Amino acid sequence: MQRKKIALIGAGHIGSMLAMMITQAQLGDIVLLDLPEKLNSSQGKVLDILALRAHAKSDIELTASADFAAISGANVVVITAGMPRRPHMTREDLLSINLAIITAVSLEVKKFAPDAYVIISTNPVDTMSQAFYELTGFPKNRVIGLSGALDSSRFRNFVALETNLSPEDVACLVMGGHGPTMIPITRTATVGGIPLAAIMTAEQINKVVERTREAGTEIVNLLGDGSAYFSSAGAILEMVEALILDKRRVICSSVLCQGEYGVEGLFIGVPAVLGANGLERIIEIELTPEEQEMLDNTVHAVSKSVITAGLMR
Ligand code: LAC
Repeated sequence: MQRKKIALIGAGHIGSMLAMMITQAQLGDIVLLDLPEKLNSSQGKVLDILALRAHAKSDIELTASADFAAISGANVVVITAGMPRRPHMTREDLLSINLAIITAVSLEVKKFAPDAYVIISTNPVDTMSQAFYELTGFPKNRVIGLSGALDSSRFRNFVALETNLSPEDVACLVMGGHGPTMIPITRTATVGGIPLAAIMTAEQINKVVERTREAGTEIVNLLGDGSAYFSSAGAILEMVEALILDKRRVICSSVLCQGEYGVEGLFIGVPAVLGANGLERIIEIELTPEEQEMLDNTVHAVSKSVITAGLMR
């Protein structure tokens, strides 16, 4: 069987951690791409991960490059390139600088990997996914932003910490924009198939919701010089795996809505089936009036960002 090729654009914390995780999971051969001035550092990371293969019982091939031609033929491209947040910054503060980066990257991906499935984690991620989609003209099933995979992992962790149960057993949809307006749908959340409300008090659930919404910021403030990367890489790994292994996982992701949930022409986090065809479909559930109000609020916030980026016609 022909091995898959996975191109990671951005060899920063998330990109290099993801390279390590993909090597361990043996999902495909990897090209780690960053700017020419970072080539030495990218090569160092690749050499280090290549040696890890002996421990990981992996024979994945890895190369570092600063030349976009190296991504030619990639089946999956993951874009993590861009500025991370620093303390006291919102994701929206990164808009103009990261839009310039995504614009440059989009054109190169279109040129060298026109058939790739693309996962984007650059912030503000809903707007950056929209930008990539508009700039490349890729079909919507091949442009997927990281949101709910990461946000729900935080929700799952905070429930686990609060209840002393395994995060593995917690399931929750976290919809909406990847920012403070995100919507953990607590009504349908479960622990081992048991409704959350049977295990936690309303006060505990609210605490988990609030902490989930601010989890990225909490980590940015603690790190002092960047944003979360272990869990971000783990979340992207799940998405890559869903695509490459055709798993048909249900993972909330930032994808183009065309009428789903009443949202028209906007990338926003919704329950998405991810498989060999990328975004296989969006699953719609009926929202309560309260959830609908939160959705309107998050759609408003994302639209504002998209308009600021000059992407909304
Ligand atoms: C976070 C950043 C990566 O949520 O958006 O940690």
